[in-house]
Amino acid sequence: MKFHTPASLLLSASVTLTLAADISEYVTAPEAIEPLFDVEALPRIVNRRQNATEFCRTSPGDADWPSDADWEAFNETVKGALIKPVPRAAVCHKSWPEYYDEEKCKHVVANWNNHEERVANPTDLIYNYFQGESCYPSLDPSTPCTTGGDPAYVVNVTTPEQIASTIKFAKEKNIRLIIKNTGHDVSGKSTGAGSLSIWTHNMKSIEWLLDYKTAFYSGPAIRAAAGVSVGEFYQVAEDHGVTVVGGECSTVGVAGGYLSGGGHSPVGGLFGMGADNVVELTAVLPNGTHAYITSTTTPDLFWAFRGGGGSTFGIVTSVTVKTHPKIHTTVSQWGFATGVSGNTTVSNETFWQGVRAYLEHVPAIADSGSQAFASVAPSTSGYTFKISSFVAPNHTVADYDTLMAPFFRKLTNLGISVAQNTTFHPSYFGAWQRAFPKISTPYDPNKPLLSTGSRLFPRQNFEDAALFGDTLATLKRINDMGYSFIFYAQDNHLRAGVDNAINPAYRASVVFLMVSAKYPARASPAVVNSARDTVTKVLVPMLKKLTPGGGTYMNEADVREEGWQQSFFGGNYARLLELKNLVDPERLFWAKTAVGSEEWYVQDDRGLPEVQTGRLCRRA
Ligand SMILES: Cc1cc2nc3c(=O)[nH]c(=O)nc-3n(C[C@H](O)[C@H](O)[C@H](O)COP(=O)(O)OP(=O)(O)OC[C@H]3O[C@@H](n4cnc5c(N)ncnc54)[C@H](O)[C@@H]3O)c2cc1C
Ligand SMILES: *[C@@H]1O[C@H](CO)[C@@H](O)[C@H](O)[C@H]1NC(C)=O
Ligand SMILES: *[C@@H]1O[C@H](CO)[C@@H](O)[C@H](O)[C@H]1NC(C)=O
Ligand SMILES: *[C@@H]1O[C@H](CO)[C@@H](O)[C@H](O)[C@H]1NC(C)=O
Ligand SMILES: *[C@@H]1O[C@H](CO)[C@@H](O)[C@H](O)[C@H]1NC(C)=O
Ligand SMILES: *[C@@H]1O[C@H](CO)[C@@H](O)[C@H](O)[C@H]1NC(C)=O
Ligand SMILES: *[C@@H]1O[C@H](CO)[C@@H](O)[C@H](O)[C@H]1NC(C)=O
Ligand SMILES: *[C@@H]1O[C@H](CO)[C@@H](O)[C@H](O)[C@H]1NC(C)=O
Ligand SMILES: *[C@@H]1O[C@H](CO)[C@@H](O)[C@H](O)[C@H]1NC(C)=O
Repeated sequence: MKFHTPASLLLSASVTLTLAADISEYVTAPEAIEPLFDVEALPRIVNRRQNATEFCRTSPGDADWPSDADWEAFNETVKGALIKPVPRAAVCHKSWPEYYDEEKCKHVVANWNNHEERVANPTDLIYNYFQGESCYPSLDPSTPCTTGGDPAYVVNVTTPEQIASTIKFAKEKNIRLIIKNTGHDVSGKSTGAGSLSIWTHNMKSIEWLLDYKTAFYSGPAIRAAAGVSVGEFYQVAEDHGVTVVGGECSTVGVAGGYLSGGGHSPVGGLFGMGADNVVELTAVLPNGTHAYITSTTTPDLFWAFRGGGGSTFGIVTSVTVKTHPKIHTTVSQWGFATGVSGNTTVSNETFWQGVRAYLEHVPAIADSGSQAFASVAPSTSGYTFKISSFVAPNHTVADYDTLMAPFFRKLTNLGISVAQNTTFHPSYFGAWQRAFPKISTPYDPNKPLLSTGSRLFPRQNFEDAALFGDTLATLKRINDMGYSFIFYAQDNHLRAGVDNAINPAYRASVVFLMVSAKYPARASPAVVNSARDTVTKVLVPMLKKLTPGGGTYMNEADVREEGWQQSFFGGNYARLLELKNLVDPERLFWAKTAVGSEEWYVQDDRGLPEVQTGRLCRRA
């Protein structure tokens, strides 16, 4: 049997977007997976307990923290890729005299929420909360700025060898290890105070494989290295006249947390979830092996890497993903609200009849293979409903109108008039660009923060009359309590021939819903805890009550989800934990809510739930 070998990736993990027009070299897959270091020769960290009741990772300032000479020697083993990071906003603070720069600060202020800049920074996250909000780009240079929950060192990796060397060093020195790709994680899983970070952002190689062939898939495929973003991935597919399954947001990574968590996509209803489309991957395992992982080489690991979560079984260095034919796509945006609408006034009651009509139509939307992203929020005049993007792949405008006609008839009968903004796109790429435009906003010191929780809703919530009534009433109650929610209507059923670790609850669902509580910027820990408790202890339990035995999407959930093992992994948890114990018994890879993370916790979180500003310890 012929495979594409990942050897080209091993030899030339290129840092620029390299596009091969046609890969004609077929090489037999490596049978054995080679260790990159001698795992037996390393000290076993389990023997280095600091006291009888607790064992912690070494932190800066500890007696056994590596010396400058150790770091220098380590830097040589990673070919000079070691970075001692500074906060992105250090340029705005006089406490960082080497970096303070008024002009650069102005740029950071203006581009604070530019996700491309965040992703390109070695330590910045999309959710600064987990970094302890320790350094903002305030225009008053005397305000404090510390490294908070940031790693102590970052390795700007471009090769599997550098990754293996970093794993080895972290293991030898008992240092907390983290992985940052883009920093989009909503649970702060890509940061940690005093840690050593493997930063995969610059692994940018993309290969177009015209005639990819294995026993289980033949056809065009794309191999993307660990740092490739959704936007870059889509661009290559567009350039070659195909469609690939990727996320909504262009700066999310493809091969990191996205695919390992499952990966929802505007085209997922048509082609399956992100992880369903992976045909092979390569990863550096905790024992330093750079492994070639397919359903035939290592079926258990292949299963686990696709849905079992990031930062758990090793570091993915590349994913090879099947492609689909180019498809035309229709996008529509519209909404309605209480108040004056055309010739009538929409009352609160009429508004919720409109929402009812939409929810009744959810199964039909799901069955069409479309993805509809909606929000429902309380407003000063009552409520608003907004479809920020309805993506209907393989639908002409006429197809879309036919699909939605029964719903819009009901709205018309209710006296709700809607101005739809519908556009046709010959290729999915243009539809995605319209549906999910890039957003970049300046630093706003008064912007409230969000605490979010979520739930997957099975089809019966929209088809069983009694359950439907409870679902609608609960959603209205959430608005009446002052909280808004957003949701995707989409089908993500298990497809023939797919076997991976994606949460079984995802397969049964037609809606993925997120609910949020806002709290003011610079709030006291008491206020933050209160907002976060509302999500964890009030709002999410309301959703759970409607969906007993169900679950949610680990990549967009409350980091404090109660019973997260069941919610995030369902019946897959036991098998995933067994695999974790096999490949990483020492928990070198640890992240909050990752498989096998139970025994460890972060000390000194400043009283802010799950903030990553303290040291990582294990309970006895
Ligand atoms: C603005 C925004 C938009 C989003 N849009 C979508 C969407 O369209 N669809 C969707 O499904 N989800 C979406 N998400 C959620 C997203 O899937 C998760 O945030 C995901 O964890 C991001 O993965 P990342 O690699 O980009 O980010 P990171 O924060 O860098 O990594 C996430 C997790 O994966 C680990 N990890 C990273 N790289 C690797 C690797 N190479 N090997 C092993 N582990 C690794 C990290 O340690 C961390 O635990 C979105 C989130 C945000 C904030
Ligand atoms: C030993 O464990 C206790 C908690 O049980 C903790 O308070 C103390 O700081 C630990 N000592 C060290 C050196 O880590
Ligand atoms: C690592 O080595 C490179 C190249 O010699 C150097 O530029 C870099 O500053 C070093 N990193 C650290 C943290 O010293
Ligand atoms: C990371 O490495 C890449 C490739 O070697 C280089 O282009 C980039 O400047 C580095 N980034 C940082 C922040 O050192
Ligand atoms: C609104 O009223 C005008 C005139 O009374 C009528 O022509 C129009 O059709 C009405 N529009 C709707 C949406 O009912
Ligand atoms: C409509 O609902 C809003 C929000 O719950 C409420 O403030 C308002 O009083 C309601 N209006 C009427 C007429 O009931
Ligand atoms: C697109 O729709 C046509 C019917 O209009 C159908 O035959 C085809 O299978 C669909 N393509 C996909 C990828 O679902
Ligand atoms: C429709 O949406 C596009 C953006 O996607 C916008 O540019 C255009 O102005 C909108 N048209 C109307 C009539 O609102
Ligand atoms: C590394 O771990 C993998 C997965 O557990 C295993 O298959 C392989 O044999 C290990 N390699 C070594 C050298 O121990």
